[in-house]
Amino acid sequence: MAEHATALPATGSAERRHGPGVERRMHGSPNGHSASGSAPGAARTDGKVTDIDSARFRSVLGRFATGVVAITGIDTATGRPTGLAANSFTSVSLDPPLVAFCVAHTSTTWPRLRDAERLCINILSEPQLEVCKRLALKGGDKFADITWTGSPGGSPVIEGALAWIEVSVENQHVAGDHVIVVARVHHLDKHHEGEPLLFYKGAYGSFA
Ligand SMILES: Cc1cc2nc3c(=O)[nH]c(=O)nc-3n(C[C@H](O)[C@H](O)[C@H](O)COP(=O)(O)O)c2cc1C
Repeated sequence: MAEHATALPATGSAERRHGPGVERRMHGSPNGHSASGSAPGAARTDGKVTDIDSARFRSVLGRFATGVVAITGIDTATGRPTGLAANSFTSVSLDPPLVAFCVAHTSTTWPRLRDAERLCINILSEPQLEVCKRLALKGGDKFADITWTGSPGGSPVIEGALAWIEVSVENQHVAGDHVIVVARVHHLDKHHEGEPLLFYKGAYGSFA
């Protein structure tokens, strides 16, 4: 796997910013502390974790290879295209057609997108590394150097993406420092042929 830059996606703080329809669900202890009284950040060496160290969490979960998507839409305040990069995307259900992704509460882009009628999930190709990095930056005109066309509902389909999926937000479920977004699929199609952009152990790579 050819490796490029190394940058783990930011995981948010516990800051709460919920849109309409957001569900709160708490399971067990909110801080994950066990009854053993271990200090925060402590992790046992036998593989069983009591208080989970964030570096350990990231390095272990980073062994799960994923693709990367660009979640795009038209900013409901400015009418301009915007988006964010995400590797937490997954398909959920065929009937009804549902997909899901997770967004950190710290995202400044999600509040601009979550009320849009339609969003577009672009499956990024290996040559789109710069698109991924641009959409992962906070602030600025994220689409300044990005070429796009409109999905049937008008959301950005990014030039060079392997496929696009037009969705509407169905449900949002608060889960720790993220919100799990369940989205209904309205239209979808393959786009360009090519290799996927992969994310593994905090680095980018390609399939071939
Ligand atoms: C490869 C990669 C995967 C990412 N995955 C997610 C994700 O699943 N959820 C998320 O909230 N942010 C994810 N991010 C971070 C966001 O793309 C972005 O940096 C973050 O939303 C901050 O920008 P914003 O304030 O404009 O939203 C990822 C970033 C990268 C580079």
